[in-house]
Amino acid sequence: NSAKCGTGLSCALAVAGCSGVQSALDPAGGDAQRIYWLTVIMTVGGTLIFLLVTGLLLYAIFAAPERRAWLGGRRTIVVGGLAFPIVVLSVLLPYGLTVMRDTDVPTPGALPIEVVGEQYWWRVRYPAEQERGEFLTANELVVPVGRPVFVSVTSADVIHSFWIPNFGGKIDMIPGRINRLNFTAERPGIYRGVCAEFCGDQHARMAFDVIALEPEAFEAWRLEQVKPAREPDLPLLARGRELFRTGGCGSCHAVRGTEANGQFGPDLTHVGSRRTIGAGQFPNNIGTLAGWIANVQHIKPDARMPSYGSLTGEDLRALAGYLESLK
Ligand code: CUA
Repeated sequence: NSAKCGTGLSCALAVAGCSGVQSALDPAGGDAQRIYWLTVIMTVGGTLIFLLVTGLLLYAIFAAPERRAWLGGRRTIVVGGLAFPIVVLSVLLPYGLTVMRDTDVPTPGALPIEVVGEQYWWRVRYPAEQERGEFLTANELVVPVGRPVFVSVTSADVIHSFWIPNFGGKIDMIPGRINRLNFTAERPGIYRGVCAEFCGDQHARMAFDVIALEPEAFEAWRLEQVKPAREPDLPLLARGRELFRTGGCGSCHAVRGTEANGQFGPDLTHVGSRRTIGAGQFPNNIGTLAGWIANVQHIKPDARMPSYGSLTGEDLRALAGYLESLK
């Protein structure tokens, strides 16, 4: 799913890698659009004023004394030093304040999502809504196009920061405090979110996906997520399920519908349905899952999960196959 250049500037910067799934210059929602234009106006306006001031400075230094005399005149000081800044700042202030208006009050009808930042992943909870039950997922926000989303964020350990460049806004995740953010996805697509506050050695490996789906596709996804995990239908997968149980995976991870109900790590009830593993680090498939289980401390040192390097290749295949089957 390739994100197209939404604006001229992002096309111009595409060669510099600024366009695509993670870009503040390719806004995909209303707030991001407003922040984008504020950035453009400030950058272009600031550049013009910088060039004007630099030009006048050079003129003051190098022009003949009788030609530059007007620079020190009263009219120049009143117009350039007083009137011009007063007019420019009087226009920019209300404009800037409008763009920065509160986004932390829920828009009526908004979809609530709760996100907890943890070293180094994202716990995502969809609270119950009308007849639809609640469920947990991780490292992925699936949202419907056109409907406002109201995200409440906090942290379980240190300060993280929740940022989806394409949707604007960036908000700190602070232990013991709940911060809030509204955004609306205006076109379907996959957008990358990141942790924007240094939170430890693996800060750079703390990303997530925002998947904006058409409303019907979103409802279908939600219906699947609410269901308990499916039972394995192949001997290999049944063996994986048994290894998951005897290996103690369930003391950290929950798989709804089984005895595994650990709350420490990511909920794995539908882990097979997610795009990536390791908080946006790898595409999700049997190979990467097996590599992750066997080698996590090598791939992401400091993650809370230990490596299970003593598993045999066959056991790993069964375990990873079981997880991958949890669609
Ligand atoms: Cu979490 Cu940086």
